Parts: sequence; structure tokens; C-alpha cells
Amino acid sequence: MKAAQINAYGGIEVIQINKNIPKPSPKQGQVLVEVFAASINAIDWKFRAGYLQKMAPVPLPVTLGGDFAGKISEGGEGVSEFNVGDEVYGQAIILNGGSGSFAEYVTANATNTTLKPNTSSFEEAGALPLAGVSAMQALEEHMKLQSGQKILIHGGAGGIGHIAIQLSKVLGAYVVTTVKTEDMEFVKNLGADEVIDYKTQKFEDILKDFDAVFDTVGGETTDKSFAVLKKGGIFVSMLGQPNQDLAQKYGVSAIGQGTQTDTAHLNHLAELVDSGKIKVHVDKVFPLEKVQEAFTYQEEVHPRGKVVIKIR
Ligand SMILES: NC(=O)c1ccc[n+]([C@@H]2O[C@H](COP(=O)([O-])OP(=O)(O)OC[C@H]3O[C@@H](n4cnc5c(N)ncnc54)[C@H](OP(=O)(O)O)[C@@H]3O)[C@@H](O)[C@H]2O)c1
Repeated sequence: MKAAQINAYGGIEVIQINKNIPKPSPKQGQVLVEVFAASINAIDWKFRAGYLQKMAPVPLPVTLGGDFAGKISEGGEGVSEFNVGDEVYGQAIILNGGSGSFAEYVTANATNTTLKPNTSSFEEAGALPLAGVSAMQALEEHMKLQSGQKILIHGGAGGIGHIAIQLSKVLGAYVVTTVKTEDMEFVKNLGADEVIDYKTQKFEDILKDFDAVFDTVGGETTDKSFAVLKKGGIFVSMLGQPNQDLAQKYGVSAIGQGTQTDTAHLNHLAELVDSGKIKVHVDKVFPLEKVQEAFTYQEEVHPRGKVVIKIR
């Protein structure tokens, strides 16, 4: 089968389409999925670049990609919840026990796989898992965001951010988001009540007394965000553990989220999508052969929403 693999860590030039690699075999508790579509997440390029090699070493070559949507081809030992041909989606990044989704077939843990939303195409379903569950878990579980509360979402045009805006509105919150000038219209159309252009405005001078901040950007944005929160507010970061001294100083709680793309979360995400509450925005679709261009687009142009790799 064909797969986008790396044999060394580095820039996009290390990605190769290998054509004659063996189909992976599902181990106990896994499924083999015929992949129709997959999507790029920041972790895929961070992994390719070698940022995670010390923390999570894996033998190379390795197939890139985690998010997938496709059809069940085979169930491994101990898996009885799927039938061949079921339309599923999930996460199968190598770091999570999968075989990598930028391939014609992927093995995924059954615990990271579920039926895809009925109303989504394969491209849309393949764009959803990590970004959708990340937004959902932050807003619903960590923040328990309530109607009438005020939330600041950093990076509202990104994969996670554009879903977080929609879900915050569904939960009844007042949403302010930071984006670059070119993305302001996009996030207004997703429902943001106020948009701050981070290229020309300082959010920390404009906003105060917020109930929640959701940070998908990191760096200096993180520390500056504490001042925006009211006492008792909550800060959730997608980029590691926030500074607890600052959290204490401002009287807020601060969490570094590790997203759990398990079946329960994927099922709930599918319900949110099928009930029309959230819709993933697929910015651009690339065929597997153009995976290098897809990574360049993700890393240099920065999509609105998600970049998808179409495999079938
Ligand atoms: N901990 C976990 O379990 C977990 C899970 C998933 C993702 N993550 C991490 O979460 C982060 C976000 O993921 P994602 O998939 O949403 O990435 P993404 O699609 O690249 O979105 C990030 C967005 O932030 C924008 N941005 C950059 N600088 C900004 C600033 N100063 N203010 C406001 N917006 C800014 C980017 O666009 P422009 O630069 O063009 O403005 C982009 O639209 C990544 O670092 C990823 O590794 C962590």
C-alpha cells in the first residue's frame, strides 16, 4: 500500500510517498481501517520535525498522521463492536499506538475509533477528531462553560479555535477571539461576538473580567492572558502546563490540557456535529501524493480550520 512516511526527522523534504509497504495488521484491540481521508494537526509536523523524538522515541521509518475517516476492513482479536464496511473516524497517530493515518490502510485502537458523524463527508470526518475533541473537552469538561459567561479564545481561526467558537456560542457564552486581520471575517461568520486583530491590537489592554480563556497559541500570549480573567476564572492551554504562580497571583485556575480522543469523546463529538451544533471548516484538500504541499500549506499559510489529505 501507499503511505506518507519519514525515514529521518526534518523539514517537509523528509516526507516520502512509499508505494510498496505492507498493510498493517491489527493487533489485539485494534481495527484495520481503509482510509478515505485524514487531516494534519500541529502534532504531525512537530513529530516530523523531531520535536518529540526524545520524549517519545519510535523506530523509523514511520507513517505520519493521526486523524482518519474511512471504512472498517478488519477487526483484531477482542474487537466485536464493528462490522466490515462501517464508516468510522478516529485517531491513529503512531505515538498513540496507531500505525499512522496518511496511508491507504491504518490500524487504530478500537478505543480511539467510532462511527463517524452521519452528516459528515469522509473529508469532514477526517478533519474532526483531534481538533473537535480538544475544543469540546476544554469548554465542556475543564471550563464547564455556562450561558452568559465570557470566553476569550486565542487562535480562533485555527483547527481547534474555529470549533471552540461555534461550541461556545452553542453553550450560550459571549465569545471574543484573537486572529490576524485576514481571518476577522471568517471568525465573525462562525459567531464570534468580538474579534481582536492580534497584529494591531493588544487584547490584554482591551479585555477584563472574563470567566474563561482558551489558549491554542501559547508563548507570550499565555502569560498575558491571566490579567483578562476575573477572580475564580479558568485558563485552559493546549500548549503545556501554564504558570501556576501567575494563576495563584490572579486567583484563577490554570490547566494544561492533554486531549483524550477516546470513543466516548468521539461519540459525543459526532452527536454535536449531527445535531448541527458544530461544523468543521475544511480549508483545503490535498491528494496523498501532494502531502508535502499540504504540510507547507499548514505550516506556512496557516489554514482557516483544517487541511485534509484525501486518500480515496
Ligand atoms: N495538548 C494537546 O493534547 C493538544 C492537542 C491538540 C493540539 N495541541 C496544540 O494546540 C495548538 C493549536 O492546535 P491547532 O490544531 O488549533 O493549530 P492551528 O490550526 O495551527 O491553529 C493555531 C492558530 O493560531 C493562530 N495564531 C498564531 N499566533 C497567534 C496569536 N498571537 N494570536 C492569535 N492567533 C494566533 C494561527 O494562525 P496565524 O498564525 O496565521 O494567525 C492559527 O490559526 C498546537 O500548538 C497544537 O500542537 C495540543
